[in-house]
Amino acid sequence: MSDVFTEVESAVRSYSRSWPATFVRASGAKQWAEDGTEYIDFFSGAGALNYGHNDPAVIEPLIAYLQSGAVLHSLDMQTPAKREFLETFSELILKPRSLDYKVMFPGPTGTNTVEAALKLARKATGRQHILSFTNAFHGMTLGSLSVTGNAMKRRGAGIPLTHTSRLPYDGYLASGQSDFEWLENVLEDSGSGVDKPAAIIVETVQGEGGLRAASAEWLRTLESLCRRHEILLIVDDVQAGCGRTGSFFSFEEAGITPDIVCLSKSISGSGLPLALTLFRPELDLWEPGEHNGTFRGNNPAFVTGTAALKAYWADPTFQNFMGGTIAHLQRRLDEIIGMVDGASQRGRGLLAGVKFADPNLAQAVAAESFRNGLLVETSGSEDEVLKIMPPLTISTQDLDAGCDILAAAVREVTSSATDDQAGEHSLVDA
Ligand SMILES: Cc1ncc(COP(=O)(O)O)c(C=O)c1O
Repeated sequence: MSDVFTEVESAVRSYSRSWPATFVRASGAKQWAEDGTEYIDFFSGAGALNYGHNDPAVIEPLIAYLQSGAVLHSLDMQTPAKREFLETFSELILKPRSLDYKVMFPGPTGTNTVEAALKLARKATGRQHILSFTNAFHGMTLGSLSVTGNAMKRRGAGIPLTHTSRLPYDGYLASGQSDFEWLENVLEDSGSGVDKPAAIIVETVQGEGGLRAASAEWLRTLESLCRRHEILLIVDDVQAGCGRTGSFFSFEEAGITPDIVCLSKSISGSGLPLALTLFRPELDLWEPGEHNGTFRGNNPAFVTGTAALKAYWADPTFQNFMGGTIAHLQRRLDEIIGMVDGASQRGRGLLAGVKFADPNLAQAVAAESFRNGLLVETSGSEDEVLKIMPPLTISTQDLDAGCDILAAAVREVTSSATDDQAGEHSLVDA
């Protein structure tokens, strides 16, 4: 059907192709389309809506701010909204975790914080090379693409993506051999011909690249290798951070302290664009204005970010609630995985995945789920993993309703695949 979206908007659009609905309203874990259809949201704005849609605790302070005549746009000038955000982030997030980080506001998106991190690592060490991991995803600008795995996205750069190399992510090599053995050896061998990198950038759970989750032990080994060789460790927590895996930072479970941390997506608590780059104070080597940008001081995002931190991270209640949600989702996923031979679990916390033996199944299940009122996407270079990412605030009732749709979709898709096979046999037999 021809409409303004197909006629005027670029062919690059993608989500609107998988979910050809026009969304008019959203609340909590639900969205409604123009034709009145209700959808349960297991997508959460790709991690930008961890507290669901239009949470009153976040939206009411924003409405009051907008009506007050306060400053909306301010580059990196000082405003009370920025002051309160920095104070709250420091008091509720950094200090309780004994994290001594400077806070930088790069541009407002995930790829902006990754670019700032890579630039800072090169500046601080005077080295050029960056190591990242197989199937990593760090964003679409050239620096971020250079540490991203996906071949189709990398081709989009149109130029060689240089000064980076890939290491095997946890679980990538079936051999069971240590993922870091080669690196350890070449770094210690002055004849290896391998220059020491400035930094290693890692996601603790690969949000876009197939939802592999690194074990706590693997992350600790990586941190210790970086320390011994004076390589900076960057954790890209753009997708796995802000509570997604059950704690505010996804690396807390492993007990590691990265040198640089990238945050964006849900840090504004509302879906408004905002990004932070956090780093050890000794790394704060920027000249004033050396890395700037027009949209760093997003005051409405500071207001909603502050409100979300106060509403959810002032005491352990929310984290305990999330623990219950994670356990419940796990039970429901176990049931779904048990329905399909060869299916296995991926991900961690509420960044969960199901990998099917048949790589086409995940997309078929996501499409069938959409037809039945559930937004759920896929992950991986071949879209081979079903990605389940409900709001962290979802009620058990909505979580169950979404899981019921998912289970029915898996049943439908696998039984029609079996019917097709049976049909093929009978044709051949005939
Ligand atoms: C781990 C990670 N880093 C960076 C990005 C890029 O963020 P943005 O799309 O806001 O540029 C993403 C986006 O999905 C991501 O998952």
